[in-house]
Amino acid sequence: MTVGDYPLREKIVVVTGGGGGLSFEFVKLAVEQNNKVIIADLRLTPAAEEFVKMNSKPHAESGSKPHVESESGHVIFTQCDVAVWADLNHLVTVSMDRFGDVPDVYVAGAGLFEKGPYSFFTDEESDRYTLMDVNASHPIKLTRIGMKASLPRNKKTVVAIVASMAGLYPLYPSPVYNASKHAVVGFVKCMKPADVEENVKIVAVCPGLVDTPLWTDDIKAAWKFDESIKLSAKDIADTILQVIEDGQYPGGTVMTHTHYAGRRVEEFVDIEALVAPLKESSYGPVREILRKEREGHNYEEEEGHNHNENHDHGQKEKQEQKQDHEEK
Ligand SMILES: NC(=O)c1ccc[n+]([C@@H]2O[C@H](COP(=O)([O-])OP(=O)(O)OC[C@H]3O[C@@H](n4cnc5c(N)ncnc54)[C@H](O)[C@@H]3O)[C@@H](O)[C@H]2O)c1
Repeated sequence: MTVGDYPLREKIVVVTGGGGGLSFEFVKLAVEQNNKVIIADLRLTPAAEEFVKMNSKPHAESGSKPHVESESGHVIFTQCDVAVWADLNHLVTVSMDRFGDVPDVYVAGAGLFEKGPYSFFTDEESDRYTLMDVNASHPIKLTRIGMKASLPRNKKTVVAIVASMAGLYPLYPSPVYNASKHAVVGFVKCMKPADVEENVKIVAVCPGLVDTPLWTDDIKAAWKFDESIKLSAKDIADTILQVIEDGQYPGGTVMTHTHYAGRRVEEFVDIEALVAPLKESSYGPVREILRKEREGHNYEEEEGHNHNENHDHGQKEKQEQKQDHEEK
């Protein structure tokens, strides 16, 4: 069985990066279609702030029953740095607290372009490639968090990752951005079986050129931004919606959308089908791990616990520093 047709109505939808750009357009569509939406972003653009004000409903006092509506769409904003895994985990708690259940849909839309037009070559990053944390690690970790939340509840779940045409083709001036998008396209291709195996459909949308604030003036100038081939944020929001809803786009779908070719599903060689014995031997353990998870087993509380404790501690410190910084 697969997730199949999946009307996006009366669902709980998390949208990272939904505070602006093309992901905000998707937020508007999801609210129009009567869903409960959690925007997870560092901040809201003024337009998004206004939208949240117009479409939010009062939150029940803590201790009372969570505030759940079904008569119309509803949106909340929760501040989230997607590079901080504790922030990503917190999104499930927010969903439980505000909407009484774990999310049904995750749209990983938060993303960064390189710091400047040639930042790999000018060595803008001194510590780490933040872009890899935001563009590559966040969608991957968010997927795992979503699976963990859904499996014990037998909830059909969709994860739509906003990748890019840069995830399919090389560009010498922006190798880190392209590498980050190749990473998530590769991840989605690997996770194709999760649709059939676990009822978790994981897909990627790869836009061409879209007119959003990602294109700062210096990047536009350096890259000769071509107005004649740009798509609108709404075009891509529609594509994301279509891939989520339509059962003809199963898990593993990588949907490109460009001015030149419109919407197109990329085709890849199914290597696993060519090496069937490997598939037979390697799927078993994964099924067993996830079967246990479905029955409530929590691997984080087992062997990896110490590691995760250290990690969570690191994240907590980072958040405290962030709070200090915000208070200053
Ligand atoms: N604009 C394009 O031409 C284009 C083309 C292909 C793919 N994309 C991808 O589409 C996605 C959305 O980009 P956009 O064009 O709307 O850009 P945008 O800059 O308008 O929006 C990106 C959003 O992500 C948020 N964000 C950035 N870092 C974050 C963090 N650490 N934590 C939480 N939120 C964070 C920003 O605050 C912003 O609201 C990105 O993944 C981008 O790579 C864009």
